[in-house]
Amino acid sequence: MLSLDNAFSHEEVREFDLRVKRFLGTDDEIEYTVEPKYDGLAIELTYRDGLLLRASTRGDGYVGEDVTRNIRTIKSVPLKIEGVRDIPGEIDIRGEVYMDIEEFEALNRQREEKGESPFANPRNAAAGSVRQLDPSITASRRLHLACYGAGAVKGMEFRSQWEFIRWLEKARFPVPVIVRLAKGIDEVVEVIREIEEKRRHFPFETDGAVIKVNDFELQRTLGVKTREPRWAIAYKFPAHQGTTRIRDIIPSVGRTGVITPVALLEPVRIGGVTVSRSTLHNWDEIKRKDLRVGDTVVVERAGDVIPHVVMVIKEKRTGKEKPFAIPEKCPVCGAKVVREEGEVAFRCVGINCPAQVQERIKHFASRAAMDIEGLGEKNVELLYSKGLIRHFVDIYRLKKEDLLKLPRFAEKSAQNLIDAIQRSKKTTLARFLYALGILHVGEYAAKLLARHFKSLEDLYNVSPERIAGIKQMGEKIARSVSDFFSDPGNLQTLETLKSLGLEITNPDFEGKKKKKQPFEGLVFVITGTLPRPRKEVEEMIEDLGGHVSSAVSKSTDYLVVGESPGSKLQKAQDLGVRTISFDELLEMAEG
Ligand code: IVH
Repeated sequence: MLSLDNAFSHEEVREFDLRVKRFLGTDDEIEYTVEPKYDGLAIELTYRDGLLLRASTRGDGYVGEDVTRNIRTIKSVPLKIEGVRDIPGEIDIRGEVYMDIEEFEALNRQREEKGESPFANPRNAAAGSVRQLDPSITASRRLHLACYGAGAVKGMEFRSQWEFIRWLEKARFPVPVIVRLAKGIDEVVEVIREIEEKRRHFPFETDGAVIKVNDFELQRTLGVKTREPRWAIAYKFPAHQGTTRIRDIIPSVGRTGVITPVALLEPVRIGGVTVSRSTLHNWDEIKRKDLRVGDTVVVERAGDVIPHVVMVIKEKRTGKEKPFAIPEKCPVCGAKVVREEGEVAFRCVGINCPAQVQERIKHFASRAAMDIEGLGEKNVELLYSKGLIRHFVDIYRLKKEDLLKLPRFAEKSAQNLIDAIQRSKKTTLARFLYALGILHVGEYAAKLLARHFKSLEDLYNVSPERIAGIKQMGEKIARSVSDFFSDPGNLQTLETLKSLGLEITNPDFEGKKKKKQPFEGLVFVITGTLPRPRKEVEEMIEDLGGHVSSAVSKSTDYLVVGESPGSKLQKAQDLGVRTISFDELLEMAEG
């Protein structure tokens, strides 16, 4: 797998076109394709007879890492080529695995809550998620794929990049959001402008566009230099960086008490946006980058991602810069600050710390939690400062008259908020558990709990062992959930919420199936394509007490055979392992 030459201006893109023409000895306009450059991890997928055989990383270009098990967990990766008549005997499809900006930010928030160090950018997050020993971790991160190239192809021929992309699309592979055919370099430049214009709205990060000679025959003639092809170039958008000064570094207290340092910057325009603050993630980061108040720093904004400080320009130091000390006391409530063992985060231990309380209320009302429209940051701060809400329970005691006394509210806006609060009373257990802001319980853990516990009351006084018994629940979460539900004060709060009219349903509960364990102790292997996604089937089997193994052996009880089964079928027949269809599996599941 090759890398790409870069062009940093339209001028350099035009020079690339001249080089291509010179090499080919032609004055004719060249046809190019233009695509966004995805910032993730390059992957090669090998399909044999239409089935995904292997996924590997780029590695050093020659030898990569086998990441098949992890890549299979990504929803958009086809396990089988479908939808096209022509399927090559063997084909290497190249693409980029990436993470959306929103997912990246959520993941980092989660990591910071757990006291883990955040990923520097979506690219590192994607790479870190793919290069995992445990595929369930990869599966828990929402990764995407964009396919943009072919490696070796046997038994079929594509004539151009354009034809290949169209084939990929038909074969249900995800392709770049924009792929344009451009005749001549002027059209290329137009498309580059289009991508640069539109990229703000892309859910993922992109730092450029890739321009490729469309015709594969011409690509072959042009060939490669040492590591880069002569037929392609990456145009890099001007970096979203700026230089400014750190006016101050302030500690900011989050809902779980974690204290995050934030740099207050002299406002600077970067990529059309004024940046005046930037999270510094944690104190180790400040130490590592040796950041001081008064320092001149390079700040970068990539896509919509929160700006971050890249580095200090040490030459600009005057000697008056002040190193920053970790606060010993919470800057908001004055309580002690502690660092838990093995964590990078410092926490304020003050149980009634106003900063934590306000953040907890904001979290409770947020979209993924109770989803109370109109109860965002500003309004929570206002209501808190007026003493109208001191705890999220108070939200359900708010009256329209109280709101009308406040400057921000008029008849209509007050009624809207009261209605939104009323609506939020009907909620699901998963949302509610997430809303409670139990330490280490993010959206995903909340959902897992809801799957295993029928009602809120079933969690009262739950033992940590019971929770740790749920697959994917670590001991840390188990302890924290158990602690939460054995605290009399917390249970009182939950009862109060119920008496204020909260109605919690639990559509996620899967326990009914749980009682009957028709697959208890049985080992299944799956081959071929099933009518449902493989992962879903595996989860079903495991939920019913069975185990799914990847290879057929003497200890396999059943081989579930889908469409176009692989060599496992032969093996099963050789070993005398029973084979069943998907429908038979469902029948067994129903008992
Ligand atoms: S084509 C000859 N197309 O960028 C290499 N690459 O800097 C062919 N990348 O290793 C690459 N988006 O991981 C191509 N639309 C796109 C791309 C893309 C991202 C990555 C790819 C490559 C790196 C080179």
